[in-house]
Amino acid sequence: MTDRKAAITAVGHYLPEERLTNRDLEKLVDTSDEWITSRTGIKERRILRDPDKATSYMAVRAAQMVLDRRGIGADEVDLIIIATVTPDMMFPATACLVQAELGAGKAWGFDVLAACSGFLFALSAAARFIESGKHEKVLVIGADKMSTIVDYTDRTTCILFGDGAGAVLLEANTDGNGILDSMERVDGNDWKGLCMLGGGSLHPASPTSVEKRLHYLYQDGQPVFKRAVVGMAGVAEAIMKRNNLTGDDVRYLVPHQANLRIIDATARRMGIPMEKVMLNIERYGNTTAATLPLCLADWEHELVPGDNLILAAFGGGFSWGSTWVKWAYDAASLNSTH
Ligand code: UT7
Repeated sequence: MTDRKAAITAVGHYLPEERLTNRDLEKLVDTSDEWITSRTGIKERRILRDPDKATSYMAVRAAQMVLDRRGIGADEVDLIIIATVTPDMMFPATACLVQAELGAGKAWGFDVLAACSGFLFALSAAARFIESGKHEKVLVIGADKMSTIVDYTDRTTCILFGDGAGAVLLEANTDGNGILDSMERVDGNDWKGLCMLGGGSLHPASPTSVEKRLHYLYQDGQPVFKRAVVGMAGVAEAIMKRNNLTGDDVRYLVPHQANLRIIDATARRMGIPMEKVMLNIERYGNTTAATLPLCLADWEHELVPGDNLILAAFGGGFSWGSTWVKWAYDAASLNSTH
């Protein structure tokens, strides 16, 4: 064990300006604002319409915001890890594209493909590089252009997802703050409940794969819902127990934003009241790998050093996890980007 921890030292985000509201979706599929709001808590999501701009476009902007606020150059970054299920292309890794665009000359990088748990898994991997002393500055970015894999003729999924990116910088901390514990899980037995079949080596692009709509996300909502509640609450409770934390010790639960009812059920099981839960699903929908850093970006100004955050996520795979973060900085100490 070492006292050198990986702490988040700045947060950045990028959200496309275009809003896709529930009313807009009423014109595309047989749905209603009332159904979407009551079943999911979502009112609108952001869409990156420009076909020439992909996930790396959003990731670069979120990362640049982090660097500007922290007041460091891209040349100081050692490693870039990107969590995404919508990479610009199969390869090279989106991390390579972001590295080049940022001008992060000495950084290496890779992508993490873990759906809605991607940011948590990437954060966990990044923390090891800091704790071990191998690296000083690591960028972790969650970014997804979900609108490119959402089938806008399928009312059960198209109402859920949006586009966006969030990024954090990790640096060493010896004050007792930082990423203090994490739990990661996968269970591939029921992977068919949430997947995109097309485009990989099993179903490469072909006229048939397009005709069968295999290049779109598929979800069997109800079983995923049940697994999400059990999975997220289970690991979040376990991490609290392992570290002797009670609901009173937790400043905020930071849950993956897939469905307000999942979040509500998770918080209830953990004994955490909703006023201590970060929630922005109403405005952004499910941005997959970006939900957690987008929450941190929205609540950063309220956080003070020493605040306990419990991050939790569940997604395709199935994959899920939870991370205990002791917040390490005051947002007022960073540069203003406005
Ligand atoms: O982020 C990764 C992990 N993903 C999740 O955590 C998502 C988990 N699942 C969910 O959030 C929910 O299951 C959904 C929001 C996807 C669906 O909500 P639900 O309460 O589970 O609805 P349901 O699938 O049981 O469908 C209930 C009814 C069905 O009609 P019938 O069969 O009862 O006549 C659906 O056809 O609602 C219908 N329906 C809709 N109606 C209006 C499904 N989608 C819509 C819609 N508008 N958009």
